[in-house]
Amino acid sequence: MDVPWFDLFRLVFILSTLHFTATFKQGTCYFPERWEGAWFQSGVRAPVLIEGPRLSTKGRCLGSDGDKFLMVDEKRACYRCVVIHEKHKNVLQYKETFCHGRDALPTLCSLITGDALLYSLFRENASPVSCPFRGPFTFTYNRGHGECRSPVSNIDTCTEDSKLLLSYQACPDIYGSESTVEELQCLASWKEGSVRYLVGQIHHHHVTSNEDRFRCFVYEKTTPSSENAEGIDYRVAQSGDATCNGLFSATEGSRTMTLRRGNSSSAQPINKCRFPSWIANFNHWHTLDFSQSFSFHHRNSTLRIGNSSGIEMKVLCVQVKHSREEEHVVLVTHFTMGCQSGFNCMSFYRRDGHVAEIQIGSQTNRLEDACSTPFFNKSSLPYITLVTSSSDRATQPCPYMGKFDVTNVVRSDEANFPKEARLESDSAYFDRRMRSRRYTKPRVEDWDFRRVKRLDQSSNCDSKSFSSLVIGCNKMDTMEFNTECTTPDLITAYSCHGRWEENGTSFLITTPISRAHGARKFCFMYKELGPNVVAFSTSSYCNRLIQPGITGDLIFNLTNRGKCMETNSSIRARPISIRWLIIFALLVLIIRRSTYAPWIFR
Ligand SMILES: *[C@@H]1O[C@H](CO)[C@@H](O)[C@H](O)[C@H]1NC(C)=O
Ligand SMILES: *[C@@H]1O[C@H](CO)[C@@H](O)[C@H](O)[C@H]1NC(C)=O
Ligand SMILES: *[C@@H]1O[C@H](CO)[C@@H](O)[C@H](O)[C@H]1NC(C)=O
Ligand SMILES: *[C@@H]1O[C@H](CO)[C@@H](O)[C@H](O)[C@H]1NC(C)=O
Ligand SMILES: *[C@@H]1O[C@H](CO)[C@@H](O)[C@H](O)[C@H]1NC(C)=O
Ligand SMILES: *[C@@H]1O[C@H](CO)[C@@H](O)[C@H](O)[C@H]1NC(C)=O
Ligand SMILES: *[C@@H]1O[C@H](CO)[C@@H](O)[C@H](O)[C@H]1NC(C)=O
Repeated sequence: MDVPWFDLFRLVFILSTLHFTATFKQGTCYFPERWEGAWFQSGVRAPVLIEGPRLSTKGRCLGSDGDKFLMVDEKRACYRCVVIHEKHKNVLQYKETFCHGRDALPTLCSLITGDALLYSLFRENASPVSCPFRGPFTFTYNRGHGECRSPVSNIDTCTEDSKLLLSYQACPDIYGSESTVEELQCLASWKEGSVRYLVGQIHHHHVTSNEDRFRCFVYEKTTPSSENAEGIDYRVAQSGDATCNGLFSATEGSRTMTLRRGNSSSAQPINKCRFPSWIANFNHWHTLDFSQSFSFHHRNSTLRIGNSSGIEMKVLCVQVKHSREEEHVVLVTHFTMGCQSGFNCMSFYRRDGHVAEIQIGSQTNRLEDACSTPFFNKSSLPYITLVTSSSDRATQPCPYMGKFDVTNVVRSDEANFPKEARLESDSAYFDRRMRSRRYTKPRVEDWDFRRVKRLDQSSNCDSKSFSSLVIGCNKMDTMEFNTECTTPDLITAYSCHGRWEENGTSFLITTPISRAHGARKFCFMYKELGPNVVAFSTSSYCNRLIQPGITGDLIFNLTNRGKCMETNSSIRARPISIRWLIIFALLVLIIRRSTYAPWIFR
């Protein structure tokens, strides 16, 4: 008996809605487009969706007046007034009436009482905003059982200015104090009267639900003139749940914090110097293999180091340690990576117009330590060779113009390669925990070597092997390895970029001339052994432990056969030894299989 009555009631209701809509011309009420999306409300399980005229938990909007919305709940067949305030693009707050019978918007809205509950909606997947205060700070906190002052807790800045890292300490005398680290991501901040609010998400391994993740804060900045400031910079109160309810001042909350800019060196204002202009003049640099990029910002005072992982290290110049010569500058720098920060020492070497090298010491918390051993040892740290992104166009004449015999091309095996140095190469300044993980994978070079071993019987290029090298003859800036092999894959020309010398060993940056190979560069290291003999080694970076002619990725000695004009038979092919054939076969295989071996081009 109930059912038909109910249906009848619904029919009447729907008709009356139509009538209502028609009379008040209020059928087409849409929420602002910027509100659309999924929102979190404490205590509501499914996301609250705002879309067109719908607010998923309240129904459909029939009419609006400013921030007041007349909502019809079609399931329960009743009407209510919802007043929605946009506090921030990521935060909405609303009050509402109970569900009533049909009435006009102003009448319904007048039923909202002063003590009606205020609900907060926090946008899910919100794009973060800059936090209103930037660390580093020291702080004390209170969870309702007394102030945890000793040991003092810390707030660190993160690379992203939307994040803060809060490291709480446990105080033995304070019940409920706990040693824990929380990352706070700021999502919204706004001011209401004299009260400043912040909404953020807390990331911590215990925190798994949005109910635990979203928190509201009230904060106040103390002014230097305010009484009892005592070096306090901010007072912050945190909500106990995922709402902003019950937060009225920065001194009352489920948890309160008092932030001070510490007087430890790490809390002092930094950024007192600039990177040398000869390096910062080019905004973008990268390593020879493109695995890391170095870019300068903010009037040469900020350096960002990035790699394919997307984790950036932000580096600020803090102190110039040494810059007697223009070519070599040592700086103490402050870095932030993710939410870690500290100091390290950086030594910049100008090698050539488009080539520079950097040594980076290990991380320390104390500015004073950064450039001293064991954090920075010039003779053991690897050099990171950098080229500008415009270096491709900046070729230079190659060294040793003329024609050369190439003797004895050897590809290094693991036995004679200084592996230690290789592992150190680009990670010395990164976290040691990351390093161990990183090297469990076989390196590209190792794979190449295995491939070579496995396939060394077969060769489809049975002609002559590399027999000569022509430098600077056809073009001043080009080195060409000659071969009479007909394999079309085999192009072996390099263009020359910057070069420099250290203690009798020269370093030359080269680019393979090949479309397929991208712009990856190589470091050639060479040393004169006698009047007409030069020992050469190539490597993917300028490894100081490589001895030209003895170690390296590819090793060979060159013997001068004359000047460019002497196009004569002296350097023509000679009888080929079996050993040569094998080596050449290996080269061809490397060439065909690898995108990394420096000789190879399609
Ligand atoms: C700050 O400096 C005062 C004296 O200047 C010193 O007593 C105090 O230990 C310092 N605090 C920190 C955190 O370094
Ligand atoms: C920063 O580098 C630019 C070149 O990009 C240079 O002209 C300028 O002098 C440097 N600025 C400062 C403030 O050192
Ligand atoms: C990039 O840098 C991050 C942070 O230092 C490091 O963890 C990661 O291993 C690096 N990735 C590569 C591909 O080098
Ligand atoms: C610096 O490194 C070199 C080479 O590894 C080593 O011989 C030297 O003892 C180190 N110096 C210091 C002070 O640790
Ligand atoms: C050259 O060698 C000397 C002594 O062997 C050493 O002190 C110096 O640091 C070296 N210079 C370079 C640039 O490696
Ligand atoms: C190059 O010559 C040096 C000195 O004679 C020798 O020790 C080295 O083994 C040679 N390298 C190659 C690849 O033949
Ligand atoms: C090439 O060598 C031959 C002798 O082998 C000589 O007669 C001729 O002049 C040389 N040509 C050049 C261009 O040097």
